[in-house]
Amino acid sequence: MQELLGKIKTQALAEIEKAASAEALYQVQVKYLGRKGELTLLMQGIADLPKEEKPAMGRMCNEIKQALEEAFARQQEQIDSADIQKKLSDAWVDVTAPGAKYNIGHIHPLSQVQYEVEQIFSDMGFAIMDGPEAESEYYNFEGLNIPSWHPARDMQDTFFLKQTPDKKHGRLVLRTQTSPVQVRTMEKYGAPLRIIVPGRVFRNEATDASHEHTFSQVEGLLVDRDISLAHLKGVMREFLTRLFGRAHGASAMAERTSGSASASEAEPINKGIRVRFRPGYFPFVEPGVELDMSCLLCNETGCRVCKHTGWLEFMGAGMVHPNVLKAGGIDSKKYQGWAFGFGLTRLVMMRYGIDDIRLLSSGDLRFLEQF
Ligand code: DAH
Repeated sequence: MQELLGKIKTQALAEIEKAASAEALYQVQVKYLGRKGELTLLMQGIADLPKEEKPAMGRMCNEIKQALEEAFARQQEQIDSADIQKKLSDAWVDVTAPGAKYNIGHIHPLSQVQYEVEQIFSDMGFAIMDGPEAESEYYNFEGLNIPSWHPARDMQDTFFLKQTPDKKHGRLVLRTQTSPVQVRTMEKYGAPLRIIVPGRVFRNEATDASHEHTFSQVEGLLVDRDISLAHLKGVMREFLTRLFGRAHGASAMAERTSGSASASEAEPINKGIRVRFRPGYFPFVEPGVELDMSCLLCNETGCRVCKHTGWLEFMGAGMVHPNVLKAGGIDSKKYQGWAFGFGLTRLVMMRYGIDDIRLLSSGDLRFLEQF
């Protein structure tokens, strides 16, 4: 039995040392010291030994048991500390490593130009207004002196919303222009007025490089006493000069539209932008005009961009029609005013030399990240 005990001890100690996890160690413990463990069974056998052998065997068994328990405790400690080491090394953070790059978005080119336009007009005392994109037929057409036979009302051009028509305001449409905000503002604030209205407009168009169903316009309206088109000319000349005179104005446009030439070769104009009127027809103005601006690239000498005319078409405008003032509740005997509307989308395209309107609403980062 002594021999057997010695064997069990050596074997158990070797297995304890080999146990690499708490679970493995537990298994060894059960194997030798468990209820049916090898050492436990031997110790139970002491009772059947001859009397004189019992004390020595009992002592020996206890010594071995103690030795094994100590070995278990030591090994458990080692396993625990290895666990902690592993946890610590897993959680280790290199505080000197460079951070992960965080991508921050930026303002869309359309909005960038819109904010600049708003800033310039605010500086000239204009308030910034907005109005609903789902607009009534009344504000979008009748209130603006656009009769029911006007082609803009055609199903081809206007998106109509499914809705029972209202007696005065008719059906709802997606506004085809920012002009309806003219009458809305006149009704709300009366005269005098000085406002611009940047906003989205919608037309039922087949899309191609120069047509979109959704684009942006900027409306302008000034109503006061003794107002003439001379004031409009002054305001627009000032506006365009400030807009294109900025760092990213004429020079940036020159660089982009001239293709090969650098900005300095194309020599952008920094004296002022000139404007001219041509007769034009819009039902809500009388007289109506088209406003052209001098070509940014060629100093009015004629180039590819201005189709060799020296001028770029910029917007529609005119003296507000008395019927429109009336719709807005303003006495046309006391007050006059002018209004204008230009394409903000077109302005952005012109400025950056963008040749496909669809890029602006594509959400394509390869395009957007250039601005
Ligand atoms: N609303 C016109 C359009 O969408 C643009 C316009 C022309 C606005 C003349 C005006 C104006 O206020 O006076 O084509």
